[in-house]
Amino acid sequence: MSRTMSLVFLLICLASQIRVIVRVEAQQSYVDNEQLDCYNHYNSTDGNICNGIATSCNSYLTFRCAPPYNTPSAVGFLMNSDTSAIAEANNVSDVATFPTNQQILIPINCSCSSVGGRSYYQHNASYTLKYPSETYFNLANNTYQGLTTCQALMAQNPYGDRNLKVNMNLQVPLRCACPTATQSAAGVKYLLSYLVAWGDSIPSIAQRFRVTAQTVLDANKLSPNKIIFPFTPILVPLTVEPSSLELELQQAPPPAPAPPPQSPTPRESKSNSSKKWILVGVGTGAALLLLLALFAAIALIRKAKTVSLPPIPTSTSPPKPNKKSAADGGDYMETTPESWSTISSQGIRYAIESVSVYKLEEVQRATENFNESNKIGRGGSSVYRGLFKGDAAAVKIMKGDVSSEINILKRINHSNIIRLSGFCVHGGNTYLVYEYADNGCVADWLHHQPPNNNDNNKLTLSWKHRVQIAHDVADALNYLHNFTKPPYIHKNLKTTNILLDGSFRAKISNFGLARTLEDEEEEQGALQLTRHVVGTQGYMAPEYIENGVITTKLDVFAFGVVTLELLSGREAINSGKNAVDGGGEELLSASISEVLQGDNVREKLQGFIDPSLKHEYPLDLAFSMAQLAKCCVDRDLNSRPAIAEAFMTLSKILSSSLDWDPSDELKGSRSLSHGR
Ligand SMILES: *[C@@H]1O[C@H](CO)[C@@H](O)[C@H](O)[C@H]1NC(C)=O
Ligand SMILES: *[C@@H]1O[C@H](CO)[C@@H](O)[C@H](O)[C@H]1NC(C)=O
Ligand SMILES: *[C@@H]1O[C@H](CO)[C@@H](O)[C@H](O)[C@H]1NC(C)=O
Ligand SMILES: *[C@@H]1O[C@H](CO)[C@@H](O)[C@H](O)[C@H]1NC(C)=O
Ligand SMILES: *[C@@H]1O[C@H](CO)[C@@H](O)[C@H](O)[C@H]1NC(C)=O
Repeated sequence: MSRTMSLVFLLICLASQIRVIVRVEAQQSYVDNEQLDCYNHYNSTDGNICNGIATSCNSYLTFRCAPPYNTPSAVGFLMNSDTSAIAEANNVSDVATFPTNQQILIPINCSCSSVGGRSYYQHNASYTLKYPSETYFNLANNTYQGLTTCQALMAQNPYGDRNLKVNMNLQVPLRCACPTATQSAAGVKYLLSYLVAWGDSIPSIAQRFRVTAQTVLDANKLSPNKIIFPFTPILVPLTVEPSSLELELQQAPPPAPAPPPQSPTPRESKSNSSKKWILVGVGTGAALLLLLALFAAIALIRKAKTVSLPPIPTSTSPPKPNKKSAADGGDYMETTPESWSTISSQGIRYAIESVSVYKLEEVQRATENFNESNKIGRGGSSVYRGLFKGDAAAVKIMKGDVSSEINILKRINHSNIIRLSGFCVHGGNTYLVYEYADNGCVADWLHHQPPNNNDNNKLTLSWKHRVQIAHDVADALNYLHNFTKPPYIHKNLKTTNILLDGSFRAKISNFGLARTLEDEEEEQGALQLTRHVVGTQGYMAPEYIENGVITTKLDVFAFGVVTLELLSGREAINSGKNAVDGGGEELLSASISEVLQGDNVREKLQGFIDPSLKHEYPLDLAFSMAQLAKCCVDRDLNSRPAIAEAFMTLSKILSSSLDWDPSDELKGSRSLSHGR
């Protein structure tokens, strides 16, 4: 008996050897389950070797959606693929949400990269670690679902497995491949990396994509009796583009549970649970091989049957769409109109406009290929004016992953907050497309020549404009602090970040530093601390600079400084001429208490107010506004009013200002006529 067996084995081995030799050119080795053995090196786990005729090609991956990776843009970020290409490949809109567990197609560019002296076909993505519990293994197996291996991650990142820390950026080589000469000759255009799921077999995968099982076997250097494992990619050679419909095909219901949860062998019962299914696979594999040998012995080496995976042990079956899924950030991307139902402020745009995802070519066309003449903004900022379907927009180029700013702006919706109308992610850059603010930023109007001024006379903002701007900013901050869930702190409010639209209504922009205020901390005003103090000098509250304390009062302080700038026309930091005592720099926030103290407040205030207003302002209202600003810039954060209070006060000042009639406003000055 045993002699016959070994003979049969020998013959089987020989047969598969021969196959390997004949077709070696057309193959990549299947990763098997070797990717689970992170600390051992196998040839197949490093990557697919570059044996194709092209060094790069278009290719496809499959991915099973689960929050937070359940929208084209989120999956695009994860996989470094193009959002609209993903949407298109799956026949959904750019802003669609995929149902949990739906398999989707991800179009990628696959190219040959040389790593450690060898060349592998891969598509590079990058991933920033978010949780202390993340390891190379669960990044490869869980986050990327087996599209990469822990061995390849380790080989292509400088950090050891134990040195991974939150916020580290990792290079993620996703396995892919380009057709070999043999495959090309057979008409193969794409190699799709299909993620094996429970219940899949080579024939069922081949049937799904309407190709022959043999080509799939060949493409993966597999022999027909080889077991395939879930969470591993199988290459499927395709002559036409894949369609998402092929992925949606209902799987044949898993075969009736033939071998019930195996009576554990001593080895299995010793193994820890996380590796159990591997052993189950191997164990049944061996058993099946035995069976097969018997079968083969009878059939005298006829075509062996493909073996599919053992039926699903209930504990490891794919998770059911979870009612309360992914507390860790999944809920972050959802925006439901209901969540705004508590808002009462007038400025809110109830209809949440969708954010478009643009192609790079569209952005390039809109900005005339980032022509210098379309550059707006000052200094080193990369902001361009662009025309999208005839509408002006501002395009800001940012490096790296700015998904947090996109996600904030997607969630918040207020007429005094700049609207993000779309974005484009390409080659490490993100292009954010905002609504266009015709009149530029407030800082330019107060401290520089405003845009489009061909006149020799300096245009200036009228009193009513200034009050309206302060009111609008307070409205926006009030919304951020009190009406969004979670509340946001802007953290970088300044007059260069306040833009003016065609009718001089203010819009807050630049949410790059914005952060959420955790729910519990909002209760008692408990302190959030940071050692990473960032912001703009002159606008930062003392407790933040000195101790890194983060509260909403940070924005209130900056708002006070902005109000002082509107009143005085001076900059947040005055250097030189305004600092009488030769101190070099004078903070605007420090100068106001002196103005409002002691005698001659009236004269001192008149001296403080922007001379370009030419006394065309109601002094009593200017006094109220200065008083408010002084409270807002109080050193003690507890003495500063909440923004809601400041907003109320400004509403009163605004309505009184609108009633105020400057009888001589048009005489002797070039003050702007107010819009409303
Ligand atoms: C693995 O790669 C090495 C070269 O790096 C080669 O010598 C060896 O034969 C390969 N092993 C297998 C099993 O392909
Ligand atoms: C795409 O989806 C629409 C409905 O949403 C359907 O009418 C259309 O046939 C689909 N196209 C393809 C190619 O599947
Ligand atoms: C692949 O690369 C081409 C050219 O570099 C680019 O136009 C295309 O958008 C890329 N495809 C994806 C899915 O990223
Ligand atoms: C991908 O990353 C590897 C390093 O891990 C690098 O050598 C290679 O050039 C990259 N490939 C592309 C196409 O950027
Ligand atoms: C690997 O990831 C899958 C999900 O992609 C998960 O169901 C499975 O339990 C993971 N395996 C291990 C050993 O963690």
